[in-house]
Amino acid sequence: MNSPVASSPSPVCSHNEWDPLEEVIVGVVDGAAVPPWSDALEATVPSDQKAFFQTNAGRPFPAERIAAARRDLDEFVHILQGEGVTVQRPEGHDFTRRYGTPQWESTGLYAAMPRDLLLVVGDEIIETPLAWRSRHFEVHSFRPLLKEYFRRGARWTAAPSPELSDALYTQPSEDIEDPDRFESIITEYEPTFDAADFLRFGYDLVVQRSHVTNAFGIEWLRRHLGAPYRIHEITLRDSHPMHIDASLMPLAPGKLLINPERVPTVPDIFRTWDVLAAPPPAFSVTHPLYMSSRWVSMNLLMLDEERVIVERQEHELIQKLRDWGFKPISCNFTNFYAFGGSFHCATLDVRRRGDAASYF
Ligand code: ALA
Repeated sequence: MNSPVASSPSPVCSHNEWDPLEEVIVGVVDGAAVPPWSDALEATVPSDQKAFFQTNAGRPFPAERIAAARRDLDEFVHILQGEGVTVQRPEGHDFTRRYGTPQWESTGLYAAMPRDLLLVVGDEIIETPLAWRSRHFEVHSFRPLLKEYFRRGARWTAAPSPELSDALYTQPSEDIEDPDRFESIITEYEPTFDAADFLRFGYDLVVQRSHVTNAFGIEWLRRHLGAPYRIHEITLRDSHPMHIDASLMPLAPGKLLINPERVPTVPDIFRTWDVLAAPPPAFSVTHPLYMSSRWVSMNLLMLDEERVIVERQEHELIQKLRDWGFKPISCNFTNFYAFGGSFHCATLDVRRRGDAASYF
């Protein structure tokens, strides 16, 4: 371990995925809209959803799905507050409204997944350069919170706003379903990344390249953070890589939950860590998932090195976590899953009590 630095007085301060959680942003599904179909979506959303997207582009998601997901979020927020965590929410907007730049037009998506568009590294909160046109202005829903954090002393930064011109995108490869032949749908035209392709381990961040995170984006963040931070790029076995947090989930120092399908060999950086393979997702195979795989079942949120929020139906995972010394807290969340993520995706841990350290 490096010698710890003094705790930050900033309202934004989080160095890893497991220190005691004090404040969190939880997304909202209000106003969620079906984004226009594009090659970028084709590379990532389940193939059986293509017709739904093509038919419903630019329209709100079904009202009953939004209402059910909102109920899950309300339960989640209630649990977090009961565990002593301060919860902040963004503003929902009507994401069916058209917008554009001189080069393209789009409608929006939602403000459900703060994990993708904001990255907290220590006392700095960074707006990420998202690769989807339908998410270009998503951060505006979070700006009231960001402005308030800045007023209270946070460091607030934005990566260069991407142009998202046609030069950023390429064609889906013939082998798009082959997890051993990843070819990104995005080029190296400009830096893009989603924060959810990164995991934070104090001075070390682990990242995967994906259909939204390119090498240019990773290099931008590497130079932006500078020493003492180190960014480690790893490759997983994922046919639709977009967000690392349904493939690897650090639970505590030295304890890593892995997706056994996507992590056939544990990356070398974790060679001294204990590894738990997540059991297969337990919820119904017919449950609608517009935008993700079923592995969102392992997309957990740690409240500290013991307490962990897990979906109520994941009995085997809950038991395994208990056997491993954790204290699982169950919450209904499959209705939220439909929108593409679970507890980790739906949150941004703004403040965790703890200091920066090295864990490798
Ligand atoms: N994109 C990730 C998955 O579908 C969350 O597994």
